[in-house]
Amino acid sequence: FKQKTAYEIGVRLVGSEMCIRDRTICIDYSSPNISKSLAYHHIRSTVIGHSLVQIFRALGYRTVGINHLGDWGTTHGMLIAGAKLWPEALPEPVDVAALGALYQRYRKEMETDPKLEDLARQWFGRLERGDAEARAMWQRFRDISWAEFETVYQQLGITFDEVRGESAYEAAMPGVLEEMAQKGLSKESEGALVIELPGEKAPLLLKTKDGTTLYATRDLAAAQYRWTTYHFTRSLYVVDRGQALHFRQLFAALGLAGHEWASRCEHVPFGLVRLGGKKTGTRAGNVVLLKEVFADATDDVTPRIAENQAQLPPEQVAETARMVGIGAVVFANLVTQREKDVDFTWEKVVSLDGDSGPYLQYSHARCASILRKAGWTSSNVEAAAEAEQLDFSRLAHDAEWAVARRLLDFPEIVARAAQSCEPHGICHYLLDLAGDFSRWYTAGNGDATLRVLCDDEDTRRVRLMLTAAVRATMARGLGLLGMGAPDAM
Ligand code: ARG
Repeated sequence: FKQKTAYEIGVRLVGSEMCIRDRTICIDYSSPNISKSLAYHHIRSTVIGHSLVQIFRALGYRTVGINHLGDWGTTHGMLIAGAKLWPEALPEPVDVAALGALYQRYRKEMETDPKLEDLARQWFGRLERGDAEARAMWQRFRDISWAEFETVYQQLGITFDEVRGESAYEAAMPGVLEEMAQKGLSKESEGALVIELPGEKAPLLLKTKDGTTLYATRDLAAAQYRWTTYHFTRSLYVVDRGQALHFRQLFAALGLAGHEWASRCEHVPFGLVRLGGKKTGTRAGNVVLLKEVFADATDDVTPRIAENQAQLPPEQVAETARMVGIGAVVFANLVTQREKDVDFTWEKVVSLDGDSGPYLQYSHARCASILRKAGWTSSNVEAAAEAEQLDFSRLAHDAEWAVARRLLDFPEIVARAAQSCEPHGICHYLLDLAGDFSRWYTAGNGDATLRVLCDDEDTRRVRLMLTAAVRATMARGLGLLGMGAPDAM
Protein backbone atom coordinates (compact mmCIF):
# COMPACT_ATOMS: atom_id res chain seq x y z
CA PHE A 1 0.00 0.00 0.00
CA LYS A 2 2.41 2.59 -1.25
CA GLN A 3 2.19 6.33 -1.13
CA LYS A 4 -0.39 7.78 -3.44
CA THR A 5 -1.95 4.46 -4.25
CA ALA A 6 -4.89 5.13 -1.96
CA TYR A 7 -5.79 8.07 -4.07
CA GLU A 8 -4.97 6.42 -7.34
CA ILE A 9 -7.05 3.32 -6.87
CA GLY A 10 -9.92 5.45 -5.76
CA VAL A 11 -9.87 7.84 -8.65
CA ARG A 12 -7.99 6.29 -11.52
CA LEU A 13 -8.84 2.81 -10.43
CA VAL A 14 -8.90 1.21 -13.77
CA GLY A 15 -5.39 1.99 -14.79
CA SER A 16 -4.22 2.58 -18.31
CA GLU A 17 -2.53 -0.81 -18.47
CA MET A 18 -5.99 -2.34 -18.35
CA CYS A 19 -7.32 -0.22 -21.19
CA ILE A 20 -8.29 -2.13 -24.25
CA ARG A 21 -8.55 0.24 -27.13
CA ASP A 22 -10.16 -0.17 -30.50
CA ARG A 23 -12.41 -2.85 -29.20
CA THR A 24 -16.09 -2.38 -29.62
CA ILE A 25 -18.88 -3.92 -27.59
CA CYS A 26 -22.43 -3.66 -28.92
CA ILE A 27 -25.04 -3.84 -26.18
CA ASP A 28 -28.68 -4.25 -27.18
CA TYR A 29 -30.76 -3.41 -24.14
CA SER A 30 -34.13 -2.16 -22.95
CA SER A 31 -35.61 -2.49 -26.49
CA PRO A 32 -39.29 -2.24 -25.49
CA ASN A 33 -42.24 -2.56 -27.86
CA ILE A 34 -43.94 0.67 -28.81
CA SER A 35 -47.57 1.32 -27.91
CA LYS A 36 -47.10 -0.63 -24.70
CA SER A 37 -46.21 0.98 -21.39
CA LEU A 38 -42.78 0.53 -19.89
CA ALA A 39 -43.90 -1.91 -17.28
CA TYR A 40 -41.93 -2.93 -14.26
CA HIS A 41 -40.66 -6.12 -15.93
CA HIS A 42 -38.78 -4.00 -18.49
CA ILE A 43 -36.50 -2.71 -15.81
CA ARG A 44 -33.95 -5.49 -15.69
CA SER A 45 -32.90 -5.31 -19.31
CA THR A 46 -32.72 -1.55 -18.96
CA VAL A 47 -30.59 -1.41 -15.82
CA ILE A 48 -28.37 -4.42 -16.55
CA GLY A 49 -27.65 -3.14 -20.06
CA HIS A 50 -26.97 0.38 -18.84
CA SER A 51 -24.60 -0.91 -16.18
CA LEU A 52 -22.73 -3.06 -18.72
CA VAL A 53 -22.26 -0.01 -20.92
CA GLN A 54 -20.65 1.85 -17.98
CA ILE A 55 -18.48 -1.13 -17.04
CA PHE A 56 -17.09 -1.77 -20.52
CA ARG A 57 -16.54 1.93 -21.04
CA ALA A 58 -14.58 2.15 -17.78
CA LEU A 59 -12.35 -0.63 -19.05
CA GLY A 60 -11.54 1.37 -22.16
CA TYR A 61 -13.79 -0.34 -24.67
CA ARG A 62 -15.80 1.55 -27.20
CA THR A 63 -19.40 0.78 -26.37
CA VAL A 64 -22.46 1.06 -28.56
CA GLY A 65 -25.69 1.03 -26.56
CA ILE A 66 -28.52 0.05 -28.86
CA ASN A 67 -32.25 0.31 -28.32
CA HIS A 68 -33.77 -2.17 -30.77
CA LEU A 69 -37.29 -0.77 -30.42
CA GLY A 70 -40.10 -3.18 -31.21
CA ASP A 71 -41.78 -0.91 -33.74
CA TRP A 72 -42.72 -3.29 -36.53
CA GLY A 73 -44.95 -6.27 -37.09
CA THR A 74 -48.60 -7.17 -37.40
CA THR A 75 -49.56 -5.64 -34.04
CA HIS A 76 -49.16 -2.26 -35.67
CA GLY A 77 -51.78 -3.26 -38.23
CA MET A 78 -54.15 -3.97 -35.32
CA LEU A 79 -53.47 -0.60 -33.73
CA ILE A 80 -54.13 1.33 -36.91
CA ALA A 81 -57.25 -0.67 -37.68
CA GLY A 82 -58.47 -0.18 -34.09
CA ALA A 83 -57.86 3.56 -34.19
CA LYS A 84 -59.85 3.81 -37.43
CA LEU A 85 -62.75 1.73 -36.08
CA TRP A 86 -62.98 3.25 -32.62
CA PRO A 87 -61.51 6.77 -32.70
CA GLU A 88 -63.17 7.50 -29.33
CA ALA A 89 -60.76 5.00 -27.74
CA LEU A 90 -57.92 7.47 -28.25
CA PRO A 91 -58.97 10.76 -26.62
CA GLU A 92 -56.46 13.61 -26.78
CA PRO A 93 -53.80 13.80 -25.55
CA VAL A 94 -53.15 10.21 -26.56
CA ASP A 95 -50.82 8.34 -24.22
CA VAL A 96 -49.18 4.93 -24.27
CA ALA A 97 -51.70 3.51 -21.81
CA ALA A 98 -54.54 4.30 -24.26
CA LEU A 99 -52.62 2.68 -27.12
CA GLY A 100 -51.98 -0.40 -25.01
CA ALA A 101 -55.68 -0.63 -24.09
CA LEU A 102 -56.68 -0.26 -27.73
CA TYR A 103 -54.41 -3.12 -28.69
CA GLN A 104 -55.86 -5.33 -25.94
CA ARG A 105 -59.41 -4.50 -27.05
CA TYR A 106 -58.58 -5.31 -30.67
CA ARG A 107 -57.11 -8.66 -29.77
CA LYS A 108 -60.13 -9.51 -27.70
CA GLU A 109 -62.67 -8.56 -30.34
CA MET A 110 -60.65 -10.42 -32.93
CA GLU A 111 -61.44 -13.65 -31.10
CA THR A 112 -65.14 -13.34 -31.90
CA ASP A 113 -64.91 -11.37 -35.16
CA PRO A 114 -62.57 -12.97 -37.68
CA LYS A 115 -63.02 -10.04 -40.07
CA LEU A 116 -60.87 -7.97 -37.74
CA GLU A 117 -57.92 -10.24 -38.35
CA ASP A 118 -58.11 -9.58 -42.07
CA LEU A 119 -58.50 -5.88 -41.49
CA ALA A 120 -55.38 -5.72 -39.32
CA ARG A 121 -53.46 -7.65 -41.93
CA GLN A 122 -54.62 -5.25 -44.63
CA TRP A 123 -53.47 -2.26 -42.59
CA PHE A 124 -50.12 -3.82 -41.89
CA GLY A 125 -49.80 -4.53 -45.61
CA ARG A 126 -50.46 -0.87 -46.33
CA LEU A 127 -47.88 0.10 -43.75
CA GLU A 128 -45.34 -2.21 -45.38
CA ARG A 129 -46.03 -0.72 -48.80
CA GLY A 130 -45.45 2.79 -47.44
CA ASP A 131 -49.09 3.95 -47.66
CA ALA A 132 -49.13 7.57 -46.42
CA GLU A 133 -52.05 7.29 -43.99
CA ALA A 134 -50.83 4.08 -42.40
CA ARG A 135 -47.34 5.45 -42.15
CA ALA A 136 -48.46 8.69 -40.51
CA MET A 137 -50.53 6.88 -37.88
CA TRP A 138 -47.71 4.46 -37.13
CA GLN A 139 -45.25 7.33 -36.85
CA ARG A 140 -47.55 9.13 -34.44
CA PHE A 141 -47.93 6.09 -32.17
CA ARG A 142 -44.18 5.60 -32.26
CA ASP A 143 -43.50 9.23 -31.31
CA ILE A 144 -45.99 9.12 -28.43
CA SER A 145 -44.38 5.94 -27.13
CA TRP A 146 -40.85 7.18 -27.47
CA ALA A 147 -41.63 10.43 -25.63
CA GLU A 148 -42.89 8.41 -22.69
CA PHE A 149 -39.99 5.94 -22.73
CA GLU A 150 -37.59 8.83 -22.83
CA THR A 151 -38.82 10.29 -19.54
CA VAL A 152 -37.94 6.99 -17.86
CA TYR A 153 -34.54 6.88 -19.57
CA GLN A 154 -33.89 10.43 -18.41
CA GLN A 155 -34.65 9.50 -14.83
CA LEU A 156 -32.09 6.73 -15.12
CA GLY A 157 -29.54 8.91 -16.90
CA ILE A 158 -29.64 6.70 -19.98
CA THR A 159 -28.93 7.84 -23.51
CA PHE A 160 -28.56 5.33 -26.31
CA ASP A 161 -25.91 5.54 -28.99
CA GLU A 162 -28.41 4.13 -31.40
CA VAL A 163 -32.19 3.92 -31.36
CA ARG A 164 -32.83 1.73 -34.34
CA GLY A 165 -36.15 -0.01 -34.26
CA GLU A 166 -37.09 -3.17 -36.07
CA SER A 167 -38.72 -1.01 -38.75
CA ALA A 168 -35.26 0.20 -39.78
CA TYR A 169 -34.55 -3.27 -41.20
CA GLU A 170 -37.55 -3.47 -43.52
CA ALA A 171 -35.47 -2.58 -46.57
CA ALA A 172 -32.90 -5.23 -45.72
CA MET A 173 -35.48 -8.06 -45.65
CA PRO A 174 -35.22 -9.14 -49.32
CA GLY A 175 -31.44 -9.32 -48.99
CA VAL A 176 -31.63 -11.50 -45.88
CA LEU A 177 -34.13 -13.86 -47.50
CA GLU A 178 -32.02 -14.05 -50.63
CA GLU A 179 -28.83 -14.79 -48.72
CA MET A 180 -30.46 -17.60 -46.77
CA ALA A 181 -31.96 -19.06 -49.94
CA GLN A 182 -28.71 -18.82 -51.88
CA LYS A 183 -26.80 -20.56 -49.14
CA GLY A 184 -29.40 -23.30 -49.23
CA LEU A 185 -30.48 -22.72 -45.64
CA SER A 186 -34.12 -21.73 -45.97
CA LYS A 187 -36.93 -23.99 -47.03
CA GLU A 188 -40.69 -24.02 -47.18
CA SER A 189 -42.63 -25.72 -44.45
CA GLU A 190 -46.42 -25.66 -44.42
CA GLY A 191 -46.40 -22.51 -46.51
CA ALA A 192 -43.98 -20.68 -44.22
CA LEU A 193 -40.29 -20.09 -44.83
CA VAL A 194 -37.98 -21.57 -42.17
CA ILE A 195 -34.39 -22.50 -41.41
CA GLU A 196 -33.96 -25.95 -39.85
CA LEU A 197 -31.24 -26.03 -37.24
CA PRO A 198 -29.33 -29.13 -36.20
CA GLY A 199 -30.07 -30.05 -32.60
CA GLU A 200 -33.06 -27.69 -32.28
CA LYS A 201 -36.60 -29.03 -32.27
CA ALA A 202 -38.07 -25.81 -33.59
CA PRO A 203 -36.90 -24.16 -36.83
CA LEU A 204 -36.20 -20.44 -37.13
CA LEU A 205 -39.18 -18.75 -38.76
CA LEU A 206 -38.30 -16.28 -41.54
CA LYS A 207 -41.64 -15.65 -43.17
CA THR A 208 -45.23 -16.55 -42.34
CA LYS A 209 -47.47 -18.21 -44.90
CA ASP A 210 -48.99 -14.86 -45.79
CA GLY A 211 -45.63 -13.42 -46.61
CA THR A 212 -44.83 -11.19 -43.63
CA THR A 213 -41.34 -11.25 -42.23
CA LEU A 214 -40.82 -11.78 -38.54
CA TYR A 215 -38.93 -10.75 -35.43
CA ALA A 216 -36.20 -13.28 -36.25
CA THR A 217 -35.78 -12.09 -39.83
CA ARG A 218 -35.27 -8.55 -38.61
CA ASP A 219 -32.82 -9.76 -35.97
CA LEU A 220 -30.77 -11.47 -38.70
CA ALA A 221 -30.60 -8.17 -40.56
CA ALA A 222 -29.82 -6.21 -37.37
CA ALA A 223 -26.95 -8.55 -36.44
CA GLN A 224 -25.39 -8.11 -39.88
CA TYR A 225 -25.86 -4.36 -39.74
CA ARG A 226 -24.09 -4.26 -36.38
CA TRP A 227 -21.22 -6.32 -37.71
CA THR A 228 -20.67 -4.24 -40.84
CA THR A 229 -21.08 -0.98 -38.93
CA TYR A 230 -19.07 -1.70 -35.80
CA HIS A 231 -16.94 -4.82 -36.26
CA PHE A 232 -17.68 -5.69 -32.67
CA THR A 233 -15.55 -7.77 -30.34
CA ARG A 234 -18.72 -8.88 -28.59
CA SER A 235 -22.32 -8.23 -29.49
CA LEU A 236 -24.53 -8.59 -26.43
CA TYR A 237 -28.29 -8.98 -26.24
CA VAL A 238 -29.63 -8.20 -22.78
CA VAL A 239 -33.00 -9.90 -23.08
CA ASP A 240 -35.01 -12.03 -20.64
CA ARG A 241 -34.24 -15.73 -20.55
CA GLY A 242 -37.65 -16.51 -22.08
CA GLN A 243 -36.05 -15.67 -25.43
CA ALA A 244 -33.14 -18.09 -25.06
CA LEU A 245 -34.38 -20.31 -27.89
CA HIS A 246 -34.76 -17.35 -30.23
CA PHE A 247 -31.17 -16.27 -29.70
CA ARG A 248 -29.78 -19.78 -29.95
CA GLN A 249 -31.53 -20.14 -33.29
CA LEU A 250 -30.47 -16.71 -34.46
CA PHE A 251 -26.78 -17.22 -33.73
CA ALA A 252 -26.86 -20.75 -35.12
CA ALA A 253 -28.42 -19.53 -38.38
CA LEU A 254 -25.77 -16.81 -38.71
CA GLY A 255 -23.08 -19.41 -38.10
CA LEU A 256 -24.53 -21.75 -40.71
CA ALA A 257 -24.55 -18.85 -43.15
CA GLY A 258 -20.78 -18.75 -42.71
CA HIS A 259 -20.48 -15.62 -40.59
CA GLU A 260 -17.42 -16.20 -38.45
CA TRP A 261 -18.50 -13.37 -36.12
CA ALA A 262 -21.66 -15.25 -35.08
CA SER A 263 -19.57 -16.68 -32.25
CA ARG A 264 -19.09 -13.13 -30.93
CA CYS A 265 -22.84 -12.72 -30.39
CA GLU A 266 -24.08 -13.53 -26.91
CA HIS A 267 -27.46 -13.64 -25.31
CA VAL A 268 -27.20 -12.11 -21.83
CA PRO A 269 -30.31 -13.58 -20.19
CA PHE A 270 -31.84 -12.58 -16.89
CA GLY A 271 -34.57 -13.87 -14.58
CA LEU A 272 -37.98 -12.42 -13.80
CA VAL A 273 -38.99 -9.85 -11.23
CA ARG A 274 -41.50 -10.98 -8.66
CA LEU A 275 -43.28 -8.13 -6.98
CA GLY A 276 -44.02 -8.25 -3.29
CA GLY A 277 -44.31 -5.88 -0.37
CA LYS A 278 -46.85 -3.25 0.36
CA LYS A 279 -47.14 -1.07 -2.70
CA THR A 280 -45.98 -2.56 -5.91
CA GLY A 281 -48.41 -5.46 -6.00
CA THR A 282 -51.56 -3.47 -5.42
CA ARG A 283 -51.78 -1.24 -8.46
CA ALA A 284 -55.03 -1.02 -10.33
CA GLY A 285 -54.91 -3.09 -13.48
CA ASN A 286 -52.25 -5.68 -13.91
CA VAL A 287 -49.32 -3.62 -15.12
CA VAL A 288 -47.06 -1.94 -12.64
CA LEU A 289 -45.56 1.02 -14.41
CA LEU A 290 -41.90 1.68 -14.06
CA LYS A 291 -42.34 5.42 -13.68
CA GLU A 292 -44.77 4.81 -10.80
CA VAL A 293 -42.34 2.53 -9.01
CA PHE A 294 -39.71 5.28 -9.26
CA ALA A 295 -42.17 7.88 -7.97
CA ASP A 296 -43.20 5.66 -5.06
CA ALA A 297 -39.60 4.92 -4.11
CA THR A 298 -38.76 8.61 -4.21
CA ASP A 299 -41.77 9.48 -2.04
CA ASP A 300 -40.82 6.79 0.38
CA VAL A 301 -37.29 8.07 1.06
CA THR A 302 -38.09 11.80 0.99
CA PRO A 303 -39.21 12.23 4.65
CA ARG A 304 -36.17 10.32 5.93
CA ILE A 305 -33.76 12.47 3.95
CA ALA A 306 -35.57 15.66 4.97
CA GLU A 307 -35.29 14.59 8.60
CA ASN A 308 -31.62 13.57 8.45
CA GLN A 309 -30.61 16.66 6.50
CA ALA A 310 -32.77 19.39 8.00
CA GLN A 311 -30.33 22.04 6.81
CA LEU A 312 -30.72 21.16 3.12
CA PRO A 313 -32.96 23.38 0.95
CA PRO A 314 -36.10 21.56 -0.26
CA GLU A 315 -34.93 21.35 -3.89
CA GLN A 316 -31.81 19.56 -2.78
CA VAL A 317 -33.80 17.18 -0.59
CA ALA A 318 -36.01 16.43 -3.59
CA GLU A 319 -33.04 15.83 -5.84
CA THR A 320 -31.32 13.57 -3.34
CA ALA A 321 -34.57 11.69 -2.77
CA ARG A 322 -34.83 11.04 -6.50
CA MET A 323 -31.26 9.81 -6.62
CA VAL A 324 -31.83 7.52 -3.64
CA GLY A 325 -35.33 6.33 -4.57
CA ILE A 326 -34.42 5.46 -8.15
CA GLY A 327 -31.04 4.12 -7.06
CA ALA A 328 -32.81 1.79 -4.63
CA VAL A 329 -34.87 0.27 -7.45
CA VAL A 330 -31.85 0.01 -9.76
CA PHE A 331 -29.75 -1.70 -7.11
CA ALA A 332 -32.48 -4.20 -6.23
CA ASN A 333 -32.48 -5.34 -9.84
CA LEU A 334 -28.71 -5.67 -10.08
CA VAL A 335 -27.79 -7.21 -6.75
CA THR A 336 -29.40 -10.54 -7.59
CA GLN A 337 -27.35 -12.75 -9.87
CA ARG A 338 -28.51 -12.07 -13.40
CA GLU A 339 -30.10 -15.41 -14.15
CA LYS A 340 -31.94 -15.67 -10.86
CA ASP A 341 -35.39 -14.20 -10.32
CA VAL A 342 -35.61 -11.03 -8.28
CA ASP A 343 -37.94 -10.88 -5.31
CA PHE A 344 -38.79 -7.25 -5.15
CA THR A 345 -39.87 -6.54 -1.60
CA TRP A 346 -40.55 -2.90 -1.18
CA GLU A 347 -39.42 -2.54 2.45
CA LYS A 348 -36.11 -4.23 1.72
CA VAL A 349 -35.43 -2.21 -1.40
CA VAL A 350 -35.72 1.21 0.21
CA SER A 351 -34.27 0.28 3.61
CA LEU A 352 -31.32 2.33 4.74
CA ASP A 353 -29.44 -0.40 6.55
CA GLY A 354 -29.99 -3.66 4.74
CA ASP A 355 -28.07 -4.79 1.69
CA SER A 356 -29.65 -2.00 -0.26
CA GLY A 357 -28.74 0.77 -2.68
CA PRO A 358 -29.53 3.48 -0.12
CA TYR A 359 -27.15 1.81 2.32
CA LEU A 360 -24.28 2.20 -0.17
CA GLN A 361 -25.23 5.76 -0.98
CA TYR A 362 -25.39 6.48 2.73
CA SER A 363 -21.92 5.08 3.17
CA HIS A 364 -20.71 7.37 0.40
CA ALA A 365 -22.41 10.36 2.03
CA ARG A 366 -20.78 9.49 5.34
CA CYS A 367 -17.29 9.55 3.78
CA ALA A 368 -18.14 12.85 2.12
CA SER A 369 -19.28 14.29 5.43
CA ILE A 370 -16.05 13.28 7.23
CA LEU A 371 -13.99 14.88 4.47
CA ARG A 372 -16.14 18.00 4.61
CA LYS A 373 -15.65 18.26 8.35
CA ALA A 374 -11.89 18.12 7.84
CA GLY A 375 -12.10 20.76 5.13
CA TRP A 376 -10.98 18.31 2.46
CA THR A 377 -12.23 19.18 -0.97
CA SER A 378 -11.22 17.22 -4.04
CA SER A 379 -8.35 19.62 -4.73
CA ASN A 380 -7.04 19.11 -1.20
CA VAL A 381 -7.17 15.38 -1.72
CA GLU A 382 -5.11 15.67 -4.82
CA ALA A 383 -2.63 18.00 -3.15
CA ALA A 384 -2.28 15.67 -0.20
CA ALA A 385 -1.77 12.73 -2.54
CA GLU A 386 1.01 14.56 -4.32
CA ALA A 387 2.71 15.50 -1.09
CA GLU A 388 5.50 13.13 -0.15
CA GLN A 389 4.95 13.20 3.57
CA LEU A 390 2.04 10.78 3.73
CA ASP A 391 3.09 7.93 5.97
CA PHE A 392 0.87 4.99 5.18
CA SER A 393 2.55 2.82 7.77
CA ARG A 394 0.33 4.65 10.21
CA LEU A 395 -2.62 2.66 8.92
CA ALA A 396 -1.77 -0.12 11.30
CA HIS A 397 -5.09 -1.22 12.71
CA ASP A 398 -6.69 -4.40 11.33
CA ALA A 399 -9.85 -2.53 10.46
CA GLU A 400 -7.83 -0.05 8.38
CA TRP A 401 -5.99 -2.81 6.62
CA ALA A 402 -9.24 -4.51 5.75
CA VAL A 403 -10.46 -1.34 4.05
CA ALA A 404 -7.18 -0.76 2.21
CA ARG A 405 -6.96 -4.33 0.99
CA ARG A 406 -10.56 -4.24 -0.21
CA LEU A 407 -9.84 -1.15 -2.30
CA LEU A 408 -7.08 -2.98 -4.15
CA ASP A 409 -9.58 -5.59 -5.39
CA PHE A 410 -11.70 -3.12 -7.28
CA PRO A 411 -10.11 -3.22 -10.78
CA GLU A 412 -10.20 -7.01 -10.75
CA ILE A 413 -13.87 -6.99 -9.73
CA VAL A 414 -14.75 -4.62 -12.57
CA ALA A 415 -12.86 -6.73 -15.11
CA ARG A 416 -14.66 -9.85 -13.92
CA ALA A 417 -18.06 -8.17 -14.09
CA ALA A 418 -17.33 -7.31 -17.73
CA GLN A 419 -16.15 -10.78 -18.63
CA SER A 420 -19.26 -12.46 -17.25
CA CYS A 421 -21.65 -9.57 -17.97
CA GLU A 422 -22.58 -9.67 -14.29
CA PRO A 423 -22.91 -6.28 -12.59
CA HIS A 424 -23.97 -8.09 -9.43
CA GLY A 425 -20.30 -8.76 -8.59
CA ILE A 426 -19.81 -5.02 -8.25
CA CYS A 427 -22.90 -4.75 -6.01
CA HIS A 428 -21.50 -7.30 -3.59
CA TYR A 429 -18.07 -5.76 -3.68
CA LEU A 430 -19.50 -2.36 -2.73
CA LEU A 431 -21.52 -3.92 0.09
CA ASP A 432 -18.32 -5.50 1.41
CA LEU A 433 -16.46 -2.23 1.12
CA ALA A 434 -19.24 -0.37 2.94
CA GLY A 435 -19.14 -3.05 5.64
CA ASP A 436 -15.36 -2.79 6.06
CA PHE A 437 -15.58 0.97 6.20
CA SER A 438 -18.36 0.87 8.76
CA ARG A 439 -16.40 -1.53 11.01
CA TRP A 440 -13.41 0.80 10.89
CA TYR A 441 -15.53 3.84 11.48
CA THR A 442 -17.41 2.37 14.42
CA ALA A 443 -14.16 1.15 16.01
CA GLY A 444 -13.49 4.86 16.52
CA ASN A 445 -16.64 5.19 18.60
CA GLY A 446 -15.15 3.12 21.40
CA ASP A 447 -11.56 4.28 21.06
CA ALA A 448 -10.83 7.94 20.28
CA THR A 449 -7.32 7.18 18.99
CA LEU A 450 -8.91 5.16 16.18
CA ARG A 451 -11.07 8.01 14.89
CA VAL A 452 -10.44 9.31 11.40
CA LEU A 453 -10.33 12.83 12.78
CA CYS A 454 -7.85 11.96 15.55
CA ASP A 455 -5.49 14.39 17.24
CA ASP A 456 -2.26 13.27 15.64
CA GLU A 457 -1.99 15.24 12.43
CA ASP A 458 0.01 12.79 10.30
CA THR A 459 -2.26 9.92 11.24
CA ARG A 460 -5.29 12.04 10.53
CA ARG A 461 -3.98 12.83 7.08
CA VAL A 462 -3.49 9.21 6.02
CA ARG A 463 -6.84 8.26 7.47
CA LEU A 464 -8.50 11.04 5.54
CA MET A 465 -6.72 9.78 2.45
CA LEU A 466 -8.09 6.32 3.04
CA THR A 467 -11.57 7.81 3.51
CA ALA A 468 -11.16 9.78 0.28
CA ALA A 469 -10.22 6.59 -1.55
CA VAL A 470 -13.29 4.80 -0.17
CA ARG A 471 -15.48 7.70 -1.20
CA ALA A 472 -14.02 7.79 -4.71
CA THR A 473 -14.30 4.02 -5.15
CA MET A 474 -17.86 4.04 -3.86
CA ALA A 475 -18.81 6.86 -6.24
CA ARG A 476 -17.13 5.14 -9.14
CA GLY A 477 -18.71 1.80 -8.33
CA LEU A 478 -22.18 3.31 -7.95
CA GLY A 479 -21.63 5.05 -11.27
CA LEU A 480 -20.84 1.70 -12.90
CA LEU A 481 -24.20 0.45 -11.64
CA GLY A 482 -25.96 3.52 -13.04
CA MET A 483 -26.58 5.05 -9.60
CA GLY A 484 -25.89 8.48 -8.19
CA ALA A 485 -23.64 9.16 -5.19
CA PRO A 486 -25.10 11.86 -2.92
CA ASP A 487 -22.78 13.90 -0.71
CA ALA A 488 -25.39 14.15 2.04
CA MET A 489 -28.51 12.14 2.78
N1 ARG B 1 -38.74 -5.96 -28.27
C1 ARG B 1 -38.40 -7.23 -27.71
C2 ARG B 1 -39.31 -7.56 -26.55
O1 ARG B 1 -39.84 -6.66 -25.91
C3 ARG B 1 -36.96 -7.30 -27.23
C4 ARG B 1 -35.95 -7.07 -28.29
C5 ARG B 1 -34.59 -7.52 -27.88
N2 ARG B 1 -33.59 -7.33 -28.87
C6 ARG B 1 -33.45 -8.03 -30.00
N3 ARG B 1 -32.50 -7.69 -30.83
N4 ARG B 1 -34.23 -9.04 -30.26
O2 ARG B 1 -39.48 -8.72 -26.25
